[in-house]
Amino acid sequence: MTLLLPWNRACVVGIQAMDDQHAIVMDTMNELRLALVRGAKPEPADELLKRLIEFTRMHFWSEEQLMEQHGFPGLAGHRAEHQHLLAQLLESARRLQHGEAVNRGDVLLFLHDWFIGHVEGLDQQYGPWLNEHGVY
Ligand SMILES: [Fe+2]
Ligand SMILES: [Fe+2]
Repeated sequence: MTLLLPWNRACVVGIQAMDDQHAIVMDTMNELRLALVRGAKPEPADELLKRLIEFTRMHFWSEEQLMEQHGFPGLAGHRAEHQHLLAQLLESARRLQHGEAVNRGDVLLFLHDWFIGHVEGLDQQYGPWLNEHGVY
């Protein structure tokens, strides 16, 4: 599998704290990828998966808090998508950890698309809206 996954301008939402968090999620996914390819150095894949799950959970919560604080109208739908995404992440982590007959590259590719799809999709809606309400 290819080593590092790309990150591009279409992923920018325009809220600094959220853009920083998205970059951390991407970095963690790339570290996980490297750990799986190179055999877990310096940090084991299990630790990175745990970190990815915890950080993603925290990130989703941060976004929901931000949307709630500013009365963003799309909050309910966004929260539902986060719950769905988190369930998919937990399922992917289970597959990776239990080494089922799965192709790790496929699971990682799925997670990459899963994350980018959300950031380039639904996450793009709150950025401009919050910007209009004075949040950057
Ligand atoms: Fe996000
Ligand atoms: Fe989101």
